[in-house]
Amino acid sequence: MLTPAFLDELRARTTLSSVIAPHVKLTRAGREWKACCPFHNEKTPSFTVNDEKHFYHCFGCGAHGDAIRFLTENRGLPFMDAVKELAQAASLEVPAADPRSQERAKRQATLHDVMADAAAWFTEQFEGLDGAEARAYCQKRGIGAGAVKRFGIGFAPDRRNGLRKALERHGDDKLVECGLLIRVEDEPKKEPYDRFRGRLMIPIRDQRGRVIGFGGRILGTGEPKYLNSPETVLFDKGSSLYHIDRASPASRQARRLIVVEGYMDVIGLDRAGIAEVVAPNGTALTERQLELLWRMDPSPILCFDGDKAGAKAAIRAATRALPLLGPERTLSFVTLPEGQDPDDLVNAGGRDAVEALLGRPEPLVDRLWRHEVEASPLTTPEQRAGLKQRLVDHAAAIADRSLSQLYREEWMDRFYALNRRDRGTAPAPTPGRPSSPGQRRGAWVRGKGFVPPEPPPGAEARAIGASGIDPFTARALAAGLAVHPDLILEEAELLAALPFADPAAEALKQRLLSAALHAPALDSRALAPILADERTAKLLEEMQRGSGVVFSFNRSETDPAKGRADLKAVIELLAEKREISAALGHARQRAIEGDEHAPADMLRLERAITEANRRLADFSIIE
Ligand code: UTP
Ligand code: MN
Repeated sequence: MLTPAFLDELRARTTLSSVIAPHVKLTRAGREWKACCPFHNEKTPSFTVNDEKHFYHCFGCGAHGDAIRFLTENRGLPFMDAVKELAQAASLEVPAADPRSQERAKRQATLHDVMADAAAWFTEQFEGLDGAEARAYCQKRGIGAGAVKRFGIGFAPDRRNGLRKALERHGDDKLVECGLLIRVEDEPKKEPYDRFRGRLMIPIRDQRGRVIGFGGRILGTGEPKYLNSPETVLFDKGSSLYHIDRASPASRQARRLIVVEGYMDVIGLDRAGIAEVVAPNGTALTERQLELLWRMDPSPILCFDGDKAGAKAAIRAATRALPLLGPERTLSFVTLPEGQDPDDLVNAGGRDAVEALLGRPEPLVDRLWRHEVEASPLTTPEQRAGLKQRLVDHAAAIADRSLSQLYREEWMDRFYALNRRDRGTAPAPTPGRPSSPGQRRGAWVRGKGFVPPEPPPGAEARAIGASGIDPFTARALAAGLAVHPDLILEEAELLAALPFADPAAEALKQRLLSAALHAPALDSRALAPILADERTAKLLEEMQRGSGVVFSFNRSETDPAKGRADLKAVIELLAEKREISAALGHARQRAIEGDEHAPADMLRLERAITEANRRLADFSIIE
């Protein structure tokens, strides 16, 4: 392993500014160098490089480190690769690790040479006489000379022994090992032949920019559309991402990372000036690829094709990510218009069209919710139970325990809200239709796509509603009070302090309250004539019609004593929730003012609200 002494020596022999200079424009400032910080966006330089002390520091964002750090953080290199690169420049020998991995490294180095030679040969062919068709194809797709160079695009002529002859010096075995030649195993006498023939060649590079494989696209139509390198010592499909070499530094600058399905999508977005893009190699995202993504960005945006396959791939990635999720490890999603891929989108609307979509990605919690809600109709209790179970299962798949809990709470809140709405309104429920006004999470509207959430009014507003208890609950409550008017007086104080969002429900409540307060006797019989008053009767009728049967006390078959007790409990629960909400508002304010205890309080209060919601839900009859 590397000793601190070795690392010190390495630092001492490295001129930090010369490591940074190729990537950042440095200007002399006394004994130091100054630059605009490459770790955050700024117009006036606050990034300094000190060669004597071997560190850089940014007074703007606090980025701080040495040469190794710069290569890992800014260039995205793995630690050992950074050390090796610096050691090589400083002519230092990296202390030997175990001999087997050294042997492998040596072997890989030579295979890397073969791949580099192959890539060079393909680009020569692209530029040469044979390449006319390939050049025309690129031109037709809007891939200009700059992109051809950036992506190292080449061409494999339609010959059995083109590459084989050209790279004869490496020998068939090496070329086969690199996946460049095909050797038919059961016919050992048959000569190996070129794998890629008559194809546009797109090199796949590793994080350090070394070619590890190729994707070969047929010119025009034919099968298969893409022929890819097989798995080799260098090319482990599930552990590599197309374009990671350029996307890694670009994502640091852009502070985002986009994942698309195909090579051409990467090239298309790059054409629109968006370089922070990677693609898996034609397979579903693996755990290792997710880990690579999270090294670059805490919430990569999956921007898959707008077709069934694209949606399926997105959900697959989402479920695969669940066990690995963490506070800084999640995914977000953009859904493209039907039948389009990102490359089409660039062609149709340029960068603006892409940015419009990328600007409001859908968080994982919403994407999975939407998927499950849309997966089947929700008209029967069985169907709703199925939805609930799927959500519970997803949440349970999250290994991070507190996150798992929060997902479960969030989804159950929504489930009960949806459940209540769907049962409470007359027309057959349409899953995923826009929900009540003031909804926090945005919604999926058929034909319109994802409608982003309104500016967050905060959880307290969600709990009680910015202007009071939500209309469904309010109506049910008002209807319940009419049945148990003696509770009005008993709970007058709480009721007076609970605003109802629904104007009719609020009017009825006020009427009942004032009647109760002015009634000479406290029993229900005294209230009867007031309830019979024409306006109140009308309001009451409206409540009973419009509320839907939500709570036990709204059902005529409920035992009156139980109905009364439940109504009382619900009123008290709502009052309690309002208090928690107010406390949460204060905690949030304190958080803004920098109180370090506030976030913990907020978390506790959010949970309390969720818990209150769950208890409330218990009073509504679901099963
Ligand atoms: P797409 O068919 O969406 O490719 O497949 P694309 O990138 O949009 O290409 P164009 O625009 O039609 O030229 C997405 C990815 O799936 C893999 C490739 O990695 C491709 O980029 N794929 C697709 C294959 O490996 N083989 C195939 O035959 C097809
Ligand atoms: Mn495409």
